[in-house]
Amino acid sequence: MHSGRAKLIDLQQIVHPSGTITVLEQGIHLPFDIRRVYFLHGLSKDSVRGAHAHRNLSQLMIAVSGRFRVRLSGSGWSEDYDLVDPNTALFIPPMTWRELDDFSVGAVCLVMASAPYDEDDYIRDHLEFLRLIGSSSG
Ligand code: TYD
Repeated sequence: MHSGRAKLIDLQQIVHPSGTITVLEQGIHLPFDIRRVYFLHGLSKDSVRGAHAHRNLSQLMIAVSGRFRVRLSGSGWSEDYDLVDPNTALFIPPMTWRELDDFSVGAVCLVMASAPYDEDDYIRDHLEFLRLIGSSSG
């Protein structure tokens, strides 16, 4: 089980000459209970998604097809993840600013989330985010 800071998680694979199964099973591979699944598709090269943080939501993000970049940041840190491997999930804990861009043609971003949709959980103002995390640059 995982919690805490953002990290990449290797997923279980069942490899077969005719194709691969990637498994995420509650209580074994997942750092939280999944309450919602959604996916981004129909993206273009110049699409920019995210640009927000969540107060309480944890998420797992997987490039199930294609590739894209996820830029995560917090108080005094920033990390770029080039998601391209469907067998790797990016765990994003609460209070992490995220921006997604540089999508390849046909990219699909699968997201698993720890709670139902709640607009009140979003922080969409970067200055407010920096203030809430106590960043000196905010
Ligand atoms: P948002 O999370 O800001 O998209 P992204 O981070 O991919 O750029 O959501 C965009 C819009 O979709 C916003 O109006 C909220 C709505 N939405 C829902 O209604 N339910 C959901 O589960 C999600 C993820 C978004």
